[in-house]
Amino acid sequence: MTIVFEAQTTAGSRPASRSFPPTFLFGAATAAYQIEGAAHEDGRTDSIWDVFCRVPGAVVNADDGEVACDHYHRYRDDVSMMKDLGLQAYRFSTSWSRVQPDGGAFNPKGLDFYSRLIDELLGHGITPWLTLYHWDLPQALEDLGGWANRDTASRFRDYALGVHDALGDRVTNWTTLNEPWCASFLGYIGGEHAPGLQDPATGLAAGHHLLLAHGLTVRDLAARDENLRLGITLNLTVADPVDPTDAGDLDAARRIDGQFNRFFLDPIFRGSYPDDVMQDVAHLGFEQHVQPGDLEIISSPIHSLGVNYYHGEAVSSRPSETAMSTAAPSVRPKRSPFPAADDVHWHLRDLPTTGMGWEVQPEGLTRLLRRVHEEYTGPTGIALAVTENGAAYDDELVDGAVHDAERVDFLEAHLGAILDAIDEGVPVSGYFYWSLMDNFEWAWGYDKRFGIVRVDYDTQARTPKDSAIAYARIIQARVITA
Ligand code: NOJ
Repeated sequence: MTIVFEAQTTAGSRPASRSFPPTFLFGAATAAYQIEGAAHEDGRTDSIWDVFCRVPGAVVNADDGEVACDHYHRYRDDVSMMKDLGLQAYRFSTSWSRVQPDGGAFNPKGLDFYSRLIDELLGHGITPWLTLYHWDLPQALEDLGGWANRDTASRFRDYALGVHDALGDRVTNWTTLNEPWCASFLGYIGGEHAPGLQDPATGLAAGHHLLLAHGLTVRDLAARDENLRLGITLNLTVADPVDPTDAGDLDAARRIDGQFNRFFLDPIFRGSYPDDVMQDVAHLGFEQHVQPGDLEIISSPIHSLGVNYYHGEAVSSRPSETAMSTAAPSVRPKRSPFPAADDVHWHLRDLPTTGMGWEVQPEGLTRLLRRVHEEYTGPTGIALAVTENGAAYDDELVDGAVHDAERVDFLEAHLGAILDAIDEGVPVSGYFYWSLMDNFEWAWGYDKRFGIVRVDYDTQARTPKDSAIAYARIIQARVITA
């Protein structure tokens, strides 16, 4: 594939140009279940997502990850495509049920796939960023209680050490978990994600055990190798009250901030859960899950925090006629994933929205990075990386091209927002666009396309969209016009 740098994009000509720091890494991200396919090949067994996809109505069009982007067989071409785009780093995840089918013995063929992928990346000068858990728990472990079972945290640590045994000689950047909020709150409370449970108390227990899994893994990997760069990726948000003078709206914002952000940030960086959130969920018996020593483990030092940012939110205690859509349109009944915020309402502001119905709010990213730096990571000198940011749009393939002008604008605006944060002194080490290519968008199936590269799911042909060309050009020049 040859990237034509002269190709027209519709970003328009803007006067000023802004440079990125020399060490800033440009990358793209994917996740195992969303792209690999080969779901039952070379020993891989069911994860909770394989099983959830079989539940009638759980996923749009009854789609599943059985074939996905067939990356398992096409990884060499995909890495070569990354090279053509000029990517410096690639964030991917290892599939627990490929590495340890049924959560049992390590599978040499599964590990070998990741070993070959990493060799391919390194051979093309691309730095691997490895995430150990992007939501695909082996179903056999779910059958034992999944993340609601405390033992799963130790099982995860054992899995992580096994992956490190096989790949630790070539991978420096290790992320324990991707978006534990989704894994616990959407999976065990909202029911919109696997395993599809709808029980607030179970979801909170899952959240704690995910954090414990993170802490155990960081502690034990750090003890093995002091050169590893260890971290976690959180989906953080900026929750603004619709009316900042209204006590109900302010409290709605506090509760959303508490559950998305502080429920995870506080134990990791301060070794405690926030008092107000604990009061919100006191009736759910959460504290019984927090055993002596857990918070010390969870707050084991990390080197990098991954921030996934898609949009902020304007929240209120009052309903609105124009609500921002946050849930997938599955036909299964769902419940609110916010155990203490059933009465929170999302209002749409006067902002553009993406194909997901999400508001485009780049300034929220600047505010978020500044806030996290000031309140959590700055005092300990930890760098931030934007490990996901991207947008789905209703792309069209016309004469072999995708003119996704909105995605180009989205990309440039968010890179600009990161430069704004850097200008304010926030250390942001890199950016990973979500996603390298269109893929399985969880409960939305293949209906939503986030990629800068289009995937034709019938032929598996990859077509770089205008956004890929724009990103390649930015990476090459290390400059945006803004
Ligand atoms: C966050 C998740 O990590 C990723 O898997 C998902 O596809 C994107 N958000 C877009 O929804």
